Amino acid sequence: MQKNKLKELFRDTSSQLPHKAIQGQVAWRSPSNIAFVKYWGKYGIQLPKNPSLSMTLSASYTETRLIFKTAVGQPQRLFLFEGKENEAFSKRIWKFIDSLSEFFPFLDQLDLQIASKNSFPHSAGIASSASAMSALALCLVDMHQLIFEQEMEAADFYKHASFIARLGSGSAARSVYGGFSIWGSGNSLHLETNNDFAVVFNQKVSPVFEDLQDAILIVDEGQKKVSSSVGHSLMNGHPYAENRLMQANKNIVDLSNALVKGHKESFIKILESEALSLHALMMSSDPWFILMKPQTLQILEKIKSYREQRGIFLAFTLDAGPNVHLIYSKDDEKEIKAFIDKELKVFCKNEHIIFDAMGNGPKKIM
Ligand code: DP6
Repeated sequence: MQKNKLKELFRDTSSQLPHKAIQGQVAWRSPSNIAFVKYWGKYGIQLPKNPSLSMTLSASYTETRLIFKTAVGQPQRLFLFEGKENEAFSKRIWKFIDSLSEFFPFLDQLDLQIASKNSFPHSAGIASSASAMSALALCLVDMHQLIFEQEMEAADFYKHASFIARLGSGSAARSVYGGFSIWGSGNSLHLETNNDFAVVFNQKVSPVFEDLQDAILIVDEGQKKVSSSVGHSLMNGHPYAENRLMQANKNIVDLSNALVKGHKESFIKILESEALSLHALMMSSDPWFILMKPQTLQILEKIKSYREQRGIFLAFTLDAGPNVHLIYSKDDEKEIKAFIDKELKVFCKNEHIIFDAMGNGPKKIM
């Protein structure tokens, strides 16, 4: 239903380029996000098997500029990452662009130049597809508006951007909003969530969770051991698939309630259970993957015992890799930084830590 409505919105304006020659450029900065309830498993065209909830970050972002003009003859395409041509990224980007012809049928009539850069080192082991694909999606939807001189209302604009971002990378759908966002329909969630695009978490969040910080402890800077797509596919026929769906559906409802009511304990329990369940699912897949490193486990033990000793609000979460996201409140920043310095830094590769925090979402920069 929603999807058809979206398709129509695109189709209304996008079937033919205006007659006059077109030329322009748009640029967006879009942040990465960290999932508290994890998207793990997909079906169809990038549709999630379970709903996920994430916090949008601030310091870890991608900036993308899209320059377009009517092609004369064979359309020209150029993709630059951090100022240089990059074959692997370029392939993924153009494959994604080509897959969007249903929504932007005019793309193959344009010369396109895309230049993208990240605020974090590419080798930092941070999942960059969320920020990269959301920045590109925002540029594409913005270009569409410019070409057809039809400005959408802000809510519609971000909905379309989230829809396009999702097709590039599922987690990117959540990056077009600041604060917390949810992607995927939940069984008993009293929010209008759906599988086609993410929505902002629009309930009043308790002040307890208003200024969350995320210290990303870089345990390993290498390439991912298993690509997201392969990871998601491991959920097909996974022995615990059914229970995972039940778990995620329950966690998203419980976490939403915890966010509203300010329940720190419940927040910590859900975050850590989600992170460890994600890794447990990978360990019990066929083939199995162990993505944590010995240092990851050492960090997790340290966090647990420090929290027990100090009674402080501190939680961890993990992505599909060995790095640890330490979530805490701005009020405790001084103490947590001292704890990181004294006890955790030694487990990080080159003592590398990225201090990030909840952010306000993407920004148009041109
Ligand atoms: C573990 O969004 O990277 O980070 O849709 O195949 O691009 P694709 O996958 P991706 O998967 C992210 C998985 C995760 C959890 C999450 O962000 O929800």
